[in-house]
Amino acid sequence: MQQPTTIAEALKRRFPEQVVLVVTRAPDGCANVMAVGWTAMASSDPPMFMVGIDAEAWSYALIRETRAFVVAFPSEAMGAAVLHAGSVHGQGRDKLKEAGLNTIPAFHVAAPLLADAIANFECELKEIVQPGDCPLIFGRIIAAHVNVKADLRRLYTVASGHCLAGVRPIPETMIRPPHAPPDPFEANSSP
Ligand SMILES: Cc1cc2nc3c(=O)[nH]c(=O)nc-3n(C[C@H](O)[C@H](O)[C@H](O)COP(=O)(O)O)c2cc1C
Repeated sequence: MQQPTTIAEALKRRFPEQVVLVVTRAPDGCANVMAVGWTAMASSDPPMFMVGIDAEAWSYALIRETRAFVVAFPSEAMGAAVLHAGSVHGQGRDKLKEAGLNTIPAFHVAAPLLADAIANFECELKEIVQPGDCPLIFGRIIAAHVNVKADLRRLYTVASGHCLAGVRPIPETMIRPPHAPPDPFEANSSP
């Protein structure tokens, strides 16, 4: 049975919601990081990400200026760093250092990769569109990197108010289509 409610109320039922870290580098060399929950794959050929970034964010200014950024998938161990990245404005401070996030150079873009992330994607700005109140930034993925530790768990937002946690499949509820690849988290599955 369904009952009508407000959009805001119904949206509280959307969790878990993906969260990523968007990493940028200013022309003066200072790198920055922010948390982004409004994100999705936007194209597979060419591969593209979409990130919704508020126009007030320092990261938005840096992406517009440098036309490049990195999207990193945080692991569940990175929760405190994600909250820090998502709660302070990066202009004039070293948020990566404050958050204890280790970086390594990317191959193609000036923004660094996050050494402990599950995966990093180097992106070139494709376009920015704004159909509502939030600019949607489309980035073409030009290189990708994965953590050698294949069993790290992704961090998600699991409840309102930026409550973050690693998520696990619930075996009793899992439905596997006939030709699904082996589950990388199952002990005996091949990598
Ligand atoms: C879990 C989480 C998700 C967030 N999602 C978004 C988002 O999708 N878009 C956005 O503009 N800000 C989002 N924020 C807030 C930004 O990360 C925050 O405003 C940040 O301080 C911006 O950093 P900057 O000014 O250094 O770029 C999120 C914060 C958290 C903690």
